[in-house]
Amino acid sequence: MASHFMGSAKFILLSLTIFSFLHHFSVFSFEFQVGGTNGWVVPRANDSKVYNDWASENRFLVGDTVRFKYKKDSVMEVTDADYKRCNSTHPNLFSNTGNTVYELDRPGSFYFISGVSGHCERGQRMIIKVLTSDDAADGGDSSSGSRAAVLSFGVSKLVVVQFVLSCVASYLY
Ligand SMILES: *[C@@H]1O[C@H](CO)[C@@H](O)[C@H](O)[C@H]1NC(C)=O
Ligand SMILES: *[C@@H]1O[C@H](CO)[C@@H](O)[C@H](O)[C@H]1NC(C)=O
Repeated sequence: MASHFMGSAKFILLSLTIFSFLHHFSVFSFEFQVGGTNGWVVPRANDSKVYNDWASENRFLVGDTVRFKYKKDSVMEVTDADYKRCNSTHPNLFSNTGNTVYELDRPGSFYFISGVSGHCERGQRMIIKVLTSDDAADGGDSSSGSRAAVLSFGVSKLVVVQFVLSCVASYLY
């Protein structure tokens, strides 16, 4: 009786562990680091389109996140009009923690600017276009390198999950 109970308790515990593992390493969303290893900085004078170039090379889907890493700077999510004018007076989001994660929670365009005076004008701003699920289904053959990387990453995570499940099975039986 007691050992049966212990077995059930362990099974529940393991199930919870696997559930949180799956939840944490969700196969279906991806985090992009803005600007790659350079992070979120004022672009060089000859490279003011760097963030929009970076954004147009990637395919963003609903549920993906973008991570901004920066020092002595900030990030704002603003309207289309405020993006165009570099107007930082009433952002939808303001963050200056140095490490900001933003979830792209709907299809359409998101506008980001630096909140530091003069930085947006020098090109530290970016438009991210998030695909609708229809766009995403159509655009299969134009998949960029990073989305391909996501898929292979997803597969490797599935392999890990299978490994964990088989370990659990051998533990239980
Ligand atoms: C921009 O200028 C820097 C320094 O002068 C140079 O190293 C770099 O190659 C230039 N980049 C482009 C895209 O012209
Ligand atoms: C920024 O937006 C606010 C509110 O719409 C407006 O009052 C202000 O004049 C704008 N500033 C600039 C520089 O456009």
